[in-house]
Amino acid sequence: MQGFGASGGRPSAGLTFPPGFLWGTATSAHQVEGDNTNNDWWAWEHQAGRIAQGHRSGRAGDWWRAAEADFDRMAALHQNAHRLSVEWSRLEPQPGRWDERALRRYREMLAGLRRRAITPMITLHHFTFPLWVARRGGWLWNAFPGAFGRFARRTVEALGDLADLWCTLNEPVAAIISGYLIGRFPPGGGGLLRTRVAVVNAVRAHAAAYHAIHAAQPAAQVGIAAYLRVFDPARPASRLDRLVAGAQDRVVNWMFLDALRDGVLRGLWQTVRIPESAGSLDFIGVNYYTRDLVRFDPRAVRTLFGRNTPTPGAPLSDGGYGEIYPVGLFRVLEQVRAYGRPIYITENGLPDADDDLRPAFLVSHLREAWRALQEGADIRGYFHWSLIDNFEWADGWTLRFGLIGMDPATQVRTPRPSSALYAEICRTGSVMI
Ligand code: FCB
Repeated sequence: MQGFGASGGRPSAGLTFPPGFLWGTATSAHQVEGDNTNNDWWAWEHQAGRIAQGHRSGRAGDWWRAAEADFDRMAALHQNAHRLSVEWSRLEPQPGRWDERALRRYREMLAGLRRRAITPMITLHHFTFPLWVARRGGWLWNAFPGAFGRFARRTVEALGDLADLWCTLNEPVAAIISGYLIGRFPPGGGGLLRTRVAVVNAVRAHAAAYHAIHAAQPAAQVGIAAYLRVFDPARPASRLDRLVAGAQDRVVNWMFLDALRDGVLRGLWQTVRIPESAGSLDFIGVNYYTRDLVRFDPRAVRTLFGRNTPTPGAPLSDGGYGEIYPVGLFRVLEQVRAYGRPIYITENGLPDADDDLRPAFLVSHLREAWRALQEGADIRGYFHWSLIDNFEWADGWTLRFGLIGMDPATQVRTPRPSSALYAEICRTGSVMI
């Protein structure tokens, strides 16, 4: 297909995205700031055996001191937006105690982005809890929704003149499953009952934050960043494979979003009415990475009786992270379109240290996003994960997601070839095919 660029109606051999489209990258506080010593992940990293090769976040990308150097890189790469998170444990290090210096630093960072004509999108919770929240039970703490709502209100009162795009929670279901069922995230296990309680609390916390943000800033646009993964039956003719793939799809992908639309959480063998969450999404953030084939396995209790693998023979990214499956982005966007809300692709990327796959990954996924646009999906932006290599949670520094390579020991940045390709896409607002 040919797109028609802004150049006076002349056809251009590319896929053109709408005017005003946000083009950028995404990061999170703990993964880039460094020295986030007051949260549960820092404590987790210091327990033996939790992180690949004993890695730690340490100085990370040194953003707390010097993010502006990377903001310059974003601007030089023609990015006009950036999704970042604020660290609750810095802003409210003790219950009810607000750190004015941390607040000033975030104000400085956001003003720095805006000076470079980079629109910020701010996530309020990206996997980490302040230690004082974690000690009270984190997702399970019955006062967590209220505490998070107050944190959201205060943050938006303090930063709302610099930003109006907010993600309350990043990938709440994936974080809870990783924490309570799989055990790769803190608290390292807990079982199905705790998983259920945590998910209900996460819906309540989102709703509390949604209303708190709108009270502080009526024009705010508030959503979540949802982890969406394609689950296909390994043997399409097998009813059991279809059943377990369908169950994973419902729980991981749609249960939470449905609750924020309907005010009722249905899934994990429970139906819970949460009226305050009805209609609590102004946009939906899509984090898309990969797909799984799912095979019924009665022993796989923690993964709802499915055993997940990539498609045999499919191209894989580094470190067993998963299959590269661009059509999956189109498929999830089509499903998200049915919610009738604006969509941002809040994360998409791959670990690829030598950058041999990233250029084709970028182009092929953006082609699928463009296709979804043509079908009527109201997609307003694309945030590639990520600008620089950063601390990849349980995988430590072993997975390299950056358009720009970054050595955490020396802080030296080395642009990968795909950063120039993405810069051209951001500059022209179109993808050459
Ligand atoms: C997502 C997380 C993000 C990053 C990428 C690779 O699930 O939201 O922090 O780790 O995966």
